[in-house]
Amino acid sequence: MLVSGKELFQAAKQGGYAVGAFNVNNMEIIQAIIEAAEEENSPVFLQASQGGIKYAGLEYIAALAKTAAEQAKVPVALNLDHGTSFAQVAKCIRAGFSAVMIDGSQLSFEDNIAITQKVVDMAAPCGVSVEAELGKIGGTEDDISVAEAVFTDPDEAAEFVERTKIDALAVAIGTAHGVYKGEPKLDFARLEQIRNATNIPLVLHGASGVPEEAIRKAVPLGICKINIDTELRQAFTKAVQEVVHTKPQEFDPRKLLGPAREAMKEVVKAKLRLFGCAGRA
Ligand code: G3H
Ligand code: ZN
Repeated sequence: MLVSGKELFQAAKQGGYAVGAFNVNNMEIIQAIIEAAEEENSPVFLQASQGGIKYAGLEYIAALAKTAAEQAKVPVALNLDHGTSFAQVAKCIRAGFSAVMIDGSQLSFEDNIAITQKVVDMAAPCGVSVEAELGKIGGTEDDISVAEAVFTDPDEAAEFVERTKIDALAVAIGTAHGVYKGEPKLDFARLEQIRNATNIPLVLHGASGVPEEAIRKAVPLGICKINIDTELRQAFTKAVQEVVHTKPQEFDPRKLLGPAREAMKEVVKAKLRLFGCAGRA
């Protein structure tokens, strides 16, 4: 069933686990995530990134994800990932999203607060959760690159949360979007300080490629939502390439996309178990 992100965030915080949030671009990706969540009896976020919206079209991706969420046997929230403007958030809420992120991380502290407050004022009465970002998460997502990561400051985070009344805060503690060159080093002491200073659900972005021990350490320190995109892309592409190489005569798209869907499903299931949300639906 389609539920508000508020519900998933609150249950995760109370239960001491993190809900998996996976980026969606087409039907097979959505089906892989929903089937995995149902088999693991897990709540889940489906989320549309800026690139996903550009690729599929907002109405298309919303309709697909909404249908999937409504039919699902587990609670599913539909989230806008890295929302860029008040107008985009409004469009997404109209299209049926039950969660939004407004990413004002490239703005000044005061401007980030201002845009986030405006979004909360609109979303909260609609029952839609709001995630915001403070600090700058590094790396590249959908051709949007952040060259210089800036870690989240715990004192600023406390003021930001107090003034904006957001449901969840995305933190910059050493993860980055995309493929890691070396092993990411997470600042767990900072994460704990942010958790103590804010006492709201925290979100870990750029979690593809983060070692399992680091995830297991981060969740009890307040991480309630974990975003994965790159690892799904890799599983999808590897499965398609395998069919192309082993059966070069194959021309039925379903024979390429079906195995890709299965491969992504296995990745999602493993993540749901790792994040602790399996069995929590
Ligand atoms: O917002 C989406 C993510 O943070 C995904 O990051 O592609 O590194 O898994 P990732
Ligand atoms: Zn992200």
